[in-house]
Amino acid sequence: MARILIALLFIAVSMMACAPSSDKASGSDDTASSASSSTSPDAESASEEGKKLFTQYCAVCHGPDGKLGLNGAKDLTLSELTLEERIEQVTHGKNVMVPFENVLTKEQIEEVSKFTMTIK
Ligand code: HEC
Repeated sequence: MARILIALLFIAVSMMACAPSSDKASGSDDTASSASSSTSPDAESASEEGKKLFTQYCAVCHGPDGKLGLNGAKDLTLSELTLEERIEQVTHGKNVMVPFENVLTKEQIEEVSKFTMTIK
């Protein structure tokens, strides 16, 4: 009888030991893969990121190439604004253009503003 109890105890303990350790294993897999994807080619992914953000948030008014000018939006390919002025306007908005300070992070605003400098 005592032997069976010990055996059951052993099984219970080994099951408890297994469960959290497999959790940990899958958890660390997740963080490892997301970390490696965010640290991958920084310079290249930077402009890709800006383009993606532009398509997602700005193209509705400015068009995919920045030339659409919907609702009085300016043709961005003709814009003379500096990067700082663009970041300022994207952050706080102007007239019809909506502010993005609560939509995008500072880094994202910088990326997407940089992208508008490249569409000439
Ligand atoms: C709701 C429509 C709308 C959206 C969305 C929008 N814009 Fe605009 N944008 C405008 C309008 C309208 C103007 C002109 C504002 C003015 O001068 O009266 C403008 C002007 C600008 C200018 C200044 C151009 C110049 O030479 O004066 C920049 C730069 C700009 N937008 C970038 C962006 C970026 C980057 C995004 C996305 C994060 C974006 N806009 C999203 C409507 C929009």
